[in-house]
Amino acid sequence: EAIEKGGYEHFMLKEIFEQPQTIFDSFRGRLDAEQLRVTLSGLDSISDKLLKARRIIIVSCGTSWHAGLVAEYIIEELCRVNVEVEYASEFRYRNPIIDENDVILAISQSGETADTLVALETAKKQGATIFGIVNVVGSSIARLADAGVYTHAGPEIGVASTKAFTAQLVVLQLFALRLAQLKGTISDERFKTLIEGLAKVPEQVDWILKTQKATIRAIADKYRGSSDFLYLGRGYNFPIALEGALKLKEISYIHAEGYPAAEMKHGPIALVDETLPVVFIATQDPFYEKIVSNMQEIKARKGRLIAVVSEGDTQAAELAEDYIVVPQADEILAPLLSVIPLQLLSYYIGVERAVDVDKPRNLAKSVTVE
Ligand code: G6P
Repeated sequence: EAIEKGGYEHFMLKEIFEQPQTIFDSFRGRLDAEQLRVTLSGLDSISDKLLKARRIIIVSCGTSWHAGLVAEYIIEELCRVNVEVEYASEFRYRNPIIDENDVILAISQSGETADTLVALETAKKQGATIFGIVNVVGSSIARLADAGVYTHAGPEIGVASTKAFTAQLVVLQLFALRLAQLKGTISDERFKTLIEGLAKVPEQVDWILKTQKATIRAIADKYRGSSDFLYLGRGYNFPIALEGALKLKEISYIHAEGYPAAEMKHGPIALVDETLPVVFIATQDPFYEKIVSNMQEIKARKGRLIAVVSEGDTQAAELAEDYIVVPQADEILAPLLSVIPLQLLSYYIGVERAVDVDKPRNLAKSVTVE
């Protein structure tokens, strides 16, 4: 096992640090910035269905569901098609209205999650086309799908998903780019910006891991005794707030909630006092000013602000008690960067609290029963 961990203390840490490579692997051979081309033969094989589809339904669970939420924003923005994101466990039991015009995107690391599998079987019987975004080659969901794309993250051992999530985000971005190109809903210029941006992500992730590790560790040490955390983000970073909170719950057993930042006024703000750490994803994007004003509201109530900010930021970093820096990126690519410090923060807090981070209590890597 020590050899498999490659010198890292835990699989989870190894998998977090593998991400510059796994992100690269998930777009390798699929991206050509010079020819303005994204190659996804799985997608092209069902292009007639996708071009006709009135909507795309994403079905998944857990962290994969968060990847689906990010994809909803990206696909709607770039491809101008309606996207719905469903918890597989709810979808399968509520007699959903599906027909042969629907395309279902199934996102699953393991390809074996029982609820996702049954939801897909049900939809397939009703005539829907199933497109799988799966990590484990030859898994049940991969076999059931009519077409698909593998995420190429390699085996993920840590129960809490990290590198599989970022690989899913990459593949979903490629999916949106290719579909947008087929539909003619993206300009060449935007397409080029995004694929060039994506090609830079591995080195940007590497930069975060190398330069922010010590800061994140210190933040973990400082806040490890907290009993609750709130995570807030907007737009493409809203699902990252959910994922940050989920990661913390899973591997530190600290209660954490993720919310869209503006929604905090409808409940979570009541929790804010001088003991509550509030993690804001405050990177440079069209929502930045709004996020900063949400931060001011928390500060006025004496909440402890921790912010993930873009390189060169002043306002959010100044407001925060502690902050972590990530490189600037297009808003569509930003989730790939902003999630990295949140994974690492959870990891260090989990370790400080002596949790078995690779195998947290009560959780399973793959939930193959209902
Ligand atoms: C379990 C795992 C999570 C994972 C979820 C969905 O809860 O602990 O890390 O996100 O299942 O799994 P899947 O394999 O379908 O992505």
